[in-house]
Amino acid sequence: MSSDSMTSPFLEVRGVSVTFGGVAALTQVSLDVRPGEVTGLIGPNGAGKTTLFNVISGLQRPDKGEVQLVGRDVTKLGPHRRARLGLARTFQRLELFGSLSARENVQAGLDARRDKGGDLTAQGLLHRVGVQADADRQVSTLPTGEARLVELARALAIDPKLILLDEPCSGLDDHESQLLGGLLRELADEGRAVLIVEHDMPLVLDICDRIIVLDFGQVIATGSPDAIRQDPGVQAAYLGAANDPEAS
Ligand SMILES: Nc1ncnc2c1ncn2[C@@H]1O[C@H](COP(=O)(O)OP(=O)(O)OP(=O)(O)O)[C@@H](O)[C@H]1O
Ligand SMILES: [Mg+2]
Repeated sequence: MSSDSMTSPFLEVRGVSVTFGGVAALTQVSLDVRPGEVTGLIGPNGAGKTTLFNVISGLQRPDKGEVQLVGRDVTKLGPHRRARLGLARTFQRLELFGSLSARENVQAGLDARRDKGGDLTAQGLLHRVGVQADADRQVSTLPTGEARLVELARALAIDPKLILLDEPCSGLDDHESQLLGGLLRELADEGRAVLIVEHDMPLVLDICDRIIVLDFGQVIATGSPDAIRQDPGVQAAYLGAANDPEAS
C-alpha cells in the first residue's frame, strides 16, 4: 500500500454550513479525518461541535456542503446507511436503553449487524472498555461515567472504521479518563479513525495526532497538539479560558 493510500481520509467534510433560524451554527467547515489517527475537535461551548457530529452522522442535513465517507458522498444518506459504511458515534447526552442491562445494550449493537457481530461478543466488548463487572446491571442505575463506557462498547459493536465521540470523558474521573485515552489510541493504532470532542485539554493534547479548532462555527486552526497549544488565535478563543480555573 502506498503511503498516500494509507493516509487518504476516511472522512472528508467540504464546505458544510448549517443555520438554525438565521443563526449560523456552522459556516463553510472543511476537514479531513484519517485512519490510524486520533483527531481532536475542540472549541468553546456553542462553537458547533455537536452540530458537526450530527452532520457527519446523518442526523442533521447541511444547508450547504458535502460529507464523504471512505471516498463516497454520503450527504444524502441516513444514519443507518452511514453506520453500514463503518461510522459509529457516542452522544454528549447519552443515548442508551435505560431499562436494559449493559450487556443487552451492546447486544442490540451486535444484532444490528448483518453478520450479528461475527466473533465479537457483548461481554468481550464490555471487557474491552473495562466495565465487564456491570454487564448485568440496568443501565439507568449506572454512574454516568460507566454508562458512557457502555455506549462506547455499543459503538464498537459495529467494528467501526470511524468513531465519533462527543465528550466521552465527562463524568469520568482522572484515572478513568486516562484509561479511556489509552483505549482511543489503541483503536487508532488498529487502523481506525477516531474523532473526539472533549473539553479535557490535557487529555486531548496528550492523545491526539491532530487537533481542529472550531469557534463560532468556523475552523480557526488545524495542527499538531504543539502547534495548537502555541497558536495565539486559539489561546484567545479557547485555551486561555479553558486553562484558567477561575473562568468556568
Ligand atoms: N437544534 C437546534 N436548534 C437551534 N439551535 C441549535 C440547535 N442545535 C444547536 N443549536 C445552536 O447552534 C450552535 C452550536 O451548538 P452545538 O451544540 O453544536 O455546540 P457545541 O460546540 O457542541 O457546544 P458544547 O461545547 O456546549 O456542547 C449554538 O448556538 C446552539 O445554540
Ligand atoms: Mg456539544
